[in-house]
Amino acid sequence: MTTKKILITPGDGIGPEVTEQAVQILKKVAPIFDLQLELTEKPVGGTAYDLTGTPLPDETLDAAKNSDAVLLGAVGGPKWEPLDFSVRPERGLLKLRSELELYANLRPAAIYGDLVNASTLKPEVVDGADLMVVRELTGGIYFGKPRGVEERNGERVGFNTLVYSESEIRRIAKVGFEIAMKRRRKLTSVDKANVLESTEFWREIVTEVGKDFPDAELSHMYADNAAMQIIRDPKQFDTMVTTNMFGDILSDAAAMMTGSLGMLPSASIGGSVGMYEPVHGSAPDIAGEDKANPLAMILSVGMMMRYSFDLTEADEMIINAVVETLEKYRTVDIMAEGKTQIGCREMGEKVLQSLEQNNS
Ligand code: IPM
Ligand code: MG
Repeated sequence: MTTKKILITPGDGIGPEVTEQAVQILKKVAPIFDLQLELTEKPVGGTAYDLTGTPLPDETLDAAKNSDAVLLGAVGGPKWEPLDFSVRPERGLLKLRSELELYANLRPAAIYGDLVNASTLKPEVVDGADLMVVRELTGGIYFGKPRGVEERNGERVGFNTLVYSESEIRRIAKVGFEIAMKRRRKLTSVDKANVLESTEFWREIVTEVGKDFPDAELSHMYADNAAMQIIRDPKQFDTMVTTNMFGDILSDAAAMMTGSLGMLPSASIGGSVGMYEPVHGSAPDIAGEDKANPLAMILSVGMMMRYSFDLTEADEMIINAVVETLEKYRTVDIMAEGKTQIGCREMGEKVLQSLEQNNS
């Protein structure tokens, strides 16, 4: 048995309820693969602000740095919107990503089983689509300086900076190619090279890194076109590598192939500790109502197994249990005719039962 220290940060809104279900799955799967778990829970986001006055208390950050992996629910909500920018829940999440040096964010958007009918897109458009968005996560306009709002020539001006260094582009491009090589070997780099110098530079460096991956097929696409193509014909994509902000936007678009943002897990890697979180937000409108879809969070546990602990099989086991569960049961966001509608807790239980059946 190897011991793994995992930090659980449920966060805000639906975060705690989906996290609870994901932790059940984690506890079930770990012993099957000889992992002993040491779980610690710490606050992050608005919840942490309410308790300590900051969205990322030192205690949480220290615990994250001292763990083998972090499982994060979601942060944010209207309650904290009036707060000063520097202490908003989202600042906590961004600081955690940056302090842990998690520069690569993997967001796989695949159609699980007959979920094809839950998509707002036509079944023939999405059936079989399987896209991995590799989003740069610790640079770009999210972190660039200067930034702020100030008075200039008698009026207020807001500004942010889109900046990427060569080393930042190189390392994310490398991740993009490596992931593509384990998939269908097609990498689409998304930029806005026709307008922004920083992304023309991005294109140049990605092309250079591509020389180390002669068996990968690299293409480039402008971000506006990519948004259109994801909806028009998502099957043309295999792996996509892009900047922090384009990745944020395009991964939400890609999520809708699956019918719901509640289905998309993510892995943030690159540093010594990986962090796993659903792509969705804190959904404050349904928080505490047992309506949330816990599957993105549960699938994030699978990504932890794969990317932090090299247990591909454990990830596959979780994906299979999710696919099996979806054959009969649905949360409201992906409800379809002929299926039984259940809540967050029950969905977690059904996945757990399916795991148990397959391992008894
Ligand atoms: C995401 C979210 C975050 C982001 C927010 C909550 C800061 O939208 O993970 O996609 O913009 O990165
Ligand atoms: Mg987002």
